[in-house]
Amino acid sequence: MKAVQKIGLFDSGLGGLTVLQALEKVLPGIPKIYYGDTLHLPYGDKSDAAIQSYSTEIVSFLKNQGCDLIVIACNSASAAAGKVLEERFPELQFINVIDPVVEAVAGGTHQQVGLLGTRATVRSGAYARKLQAKNAQIQLKSLATPLLVPLIEDGFLGTGIEVQVLQHYLNDPVLDGIEALVPGCTHYPLLKEAAGSLLEGVAWIDAPAIVAQEVAKHCSAGVEGEELETKFYLSDKTPSFLELAAKTFGIKAQWELSQLD
Ligand code: DGL
Repeated sequence: MKAVQKIGLFDSGLGGLTVLQALEKVLPGIPKIYYGDTLHLPYGDKSDAAIQSYSTEIVSFLKNQGCDLIVIACNSASAAAGKVLEERFPELQFINVIDPVVEAVAGGTHQQVGLLGTRATVRSGAYARKLQAKNAQIQLKSLATPLLVPLIEDGFLGTGIEVQVLQHYLNDPVLDGIEALVPGCTHYPLLKEAAGSLLEGVAWIDAPAIVAQEVAKHCSAGVEGEELETKFYLSDKTPSFLELAAKTFGIKAQWELSQLD
């Protein structure tokens, strides 16, 4: 296995930080760069072409910063741009956030599985197609939940409003009978607590932990015992975003502004 020098992660905003957080637990000794494309947030409502174009620019940037393994820490980008990125940058390793979760669900015990995602992710049919190929016994019930990302990015976590909106979505008959739920957007793990009382008897799939385990398989442990500082970049910098990142994830590091072409 070729030793990974630096891991680059990207998302439209805060969501990919759920993946970064899980990754820091298993691979603290490998340098990482996080890019939040706040200028183009939300990705979930954009066309595939737009998401592919933003993602390509970001990966070029991360590559120029020395990243040799890229975690596409966004379901919408994984679905819309994963293949394009792999073709465009054959010299880089890519891990998307869909394949490891599909693998885990396909090998699990739940037969009826719900998926919440952005419009772009649900529209792509990526989860359903990949799951069907691995385990045709499992029935996937998908629902686009476009209000959830703005709620999170606008700081509504903990207000109770996020519980009401989530309840509205979870009451959708499409999800009737599910035994497990995949948070199919990297922002959604932040709603685990809000979902708690609404999901009695339904297992919440820990997507960031599953993805982090997959990344770890591709890396050696890095510099042992040393926790390396992660660098954070944004395409647009607003005080509200910085405040929310600090409040939600305890990120004290500086975010650097790096606008892409
Ligand atoms: N966190 C992203 C995802 O996993 C994108 C959310 C958005 O920007 O719409 O899909």
